[in-house]
Amino acid sequence: MKTILPGELSHRDRHQLLLSGVSPRPIAFIGSQDAGGVCNLSPYSFFNAFASNPPIVAIGPAISAKTGQAKDTWLNILDTKECTISAVSHEMVHKMNLTAGAYPPDVDEFDIAGFTKRPSVIVAPPSVAESPYSMECKLMESIELRRDIGGNGNIMLLEVVAFHVADSVMVDGKVDPLRMDLVGRMGYNYYTRTRDTFQAAQPLHACIGIDALPEHIRTSPILTGNELAQLAYVSVLPVLDGTFPEFDSAYRADSFEIELAAGNPEGALFVLLNSPSRHDRISLHRVAQVLIGQGRINEAWQVLLAE
Ligand SMILES: Cc1cc2nc3c(=O)[nH]c(=O)nc-3n(C[C@H](O)[C@H](O)[C@H](O)COP(=O)(O)O)c2cc1C
Repeated sequence: MKTILPGELSHRDRHQLLLSGVSPRPIAFIGSQDAGGVCNLSPYSFFNAFASNPPIVAIGPAISAKTGQAKDTWLNILDTKECTISAVSHEMVHKMNLTAGAYPPDVDEFDIAGFTKRPSVIVAPPSVAESPYSMECKLMESIELRRDIGGNGNIMLLEVVAFHVADSVMVDGKVDPLRMDLVGRMGYNYYTRTRDTFQAAQPLHACIGIDALPEHIRTSPILTGNELAQLAYVSVLPVLDGTFPEFDSAYRADSFEIELAAGNPEGALFVLLNSPSRHDRISLHRVAQVLIGQGRINEAWQVLLAE
């Protein structure tokens, strides 16, 4: 493991190192206007949400390290106290990237990239009509970051005063993340597409934790840390209760390996329990592993406790 102190690096290397670890980042596609009403549109991945009551987001337009110039977005929001933030979907990526070129303040990047202006209802700057999700924002506070040591960062805290969500990304009254198809910014020139999703419900109770797992489970040669953690979500250590597995007399299964490879842990268990190696730890843990992968945590516990 390499330990690196910020002062050892050039500005450029420090920037890339920071962004490689703070990754992937959402992209705020910021619409702003100067005092004369000229529109500006630029992407900012120093961006996140920090409160929901009221909804507050923050963006980080830097003073350019290369040119020493302030970003138009920062100057516009300081001047007018307003902006819009549109989310960036996969089909917008390259057009979004076009807007990040260095254009003079009087250039409207909506036009440069061929984006359509959606008029806002509360603030003056428009948002991006091609985006499935946008917010109208008002400036709360702008903070300059460590100018005393030559720092070039800024944080702008913005209160969201209106949300706009396309009907096409709503399912049963909720935003469907897959339909949004948003992209994230990673280190260097890498982006990620949010298609490879999975769910992990936040535990709302105190969990028993990995340290309270029985030793034969905690030291499993099969189960990974992620799998042990899913077992450790329970609030009370389960006991063997005979609820799983239950086979009727007509139940048949192929071989242990075939059933397991087919994603049929019951079948594999049936073969195992009817064999002389019914208490084989490795085999039981492999069955439990498939059950955990299928989200069947209670059944996985029963198999592991049967050892
Ligand atoms: C995906 C992406 C994210 C970016 N994020 C930031 C950022 O968080 N802060 C920043 O200062 N510049 C960021 N940039 C660079 C600005 O978008 C770029 O300097 C742009 O020209 C600024 O435009 P403006 O002067 O019209 O505001 C980013 C560029 C891209 C492509």
